[in-house]
Amino acid sequence: MSEQRDRWAQLTDGQAGEDYARRFARLAESGHDVHGEAAFCAALLAPAARVLDAGCGTGRIAVRLAELGHRCTGVDIDSSMLAVARREAPAQEWLLGDLSRLDTLGLEPDFDLVLAAGNVVPLLAPGTEPTVVRHLASALRPGGLLVTGMGLDAAHLPLPEPTVTLAEFDRWCADAGLVLRQRCATWDADPYEDGGGYAVSVHVRPAARPDAGPGGVSDR
Ligand SMILES: C[S@@+](CC[C@H](N)C(=O)[O-])C[C@H]1O[C@@H](n2cnc3c(N)ncnc32)[C@H](O)[C@@H]1O
Repeated sequence: MSEQRDRWAQLTDGQAGEDYARRFARLAESGHDVHGEAAFCAALLAPAARVLDAGCGTGRIAVRLAELGHRCTGVDIDSSMLAVARREAPAQEWLLGDLSRLDTLGLEPDFDLVLAAGNVVPLLAPGTEPTVVRHLASALRPGGLLVTGMGLDAAHLPLPEPTVTLAEFDRWCADAGLVLRQRCATWDADPYEDGGGYAVSVHVRPAARPDAGPGGVSDR
C-alpha cells in the first residue's frame, strides 16, 4: 500500500461505503440520472468489452456496465466501499488493492477500457499520481482507452482546493505513452472549455504501427 494515505482515506477514514451508496440511492430515487459515466463508457465500447474500474468504490459504475454486457473488474483500496460492491454484485470481480501497485494484483492486462471516475485521480495519495497513471496505461491493450473524470476546482471536488491540473495530468499520460483523444466538460459529452471546473478525458494507448519492426515497435 502507499506509504502516504490516499486523500479519500484522509477524508473518510475508510468508513464511507454505506453513506456513499445511500447518497447515490437517494439521487436515483429522486430521478437523477446516476448512470452518466457508464453510458459515456458504453458508447466507446464494442460488445462484451473488458473494463477495469480503477477506484471502483461501491461498484456503481462497474455494476451498470456489467448490466450492459461488459466484463468488469473493480479495484479499490477502501474495504468499506468494496463491501457494498461485493454485496450488490457478488458474481463480479472486486479486488482490494492499491492502484499505485496495480502490477501486484495479478490482473490479466489488455483491458479495452480503464475507467477512473468520481475524482479518483485527485483523491490519490499525494505524489503517487504519475505512478498510478503509468499502471493504468499498462493495463490497456494497444488501442485501449483510459477514461477519467475529475474536478479541477473546489466546487467539483470533496476537497478544499484542487490537487491536479489538466496540464499535469496530460503530462503524466504522455509520459505513460497515452495520447489525448477527447475532452468533455460532463459525462453527457458537453464540450470542455479552458478553465472549466470538471473534465472528462479520453486518452488512448496507441496501437503498434503496422510497419513496426521486429519486436513490434509501437508509436507510443
Ligand atoms: C469518490 S470515490 C469514487 C468511487 C467510484 N469511482 C465512483 O465514481 O463512484 C474515490 C475512490 O478512489 C479510491 N482510491 C483512492 N486512492 C486509491 C488507490 N491508491 N488505490 C485504489 N483506490 C483508490 C477510494 O478508495 C475511493 O473509493
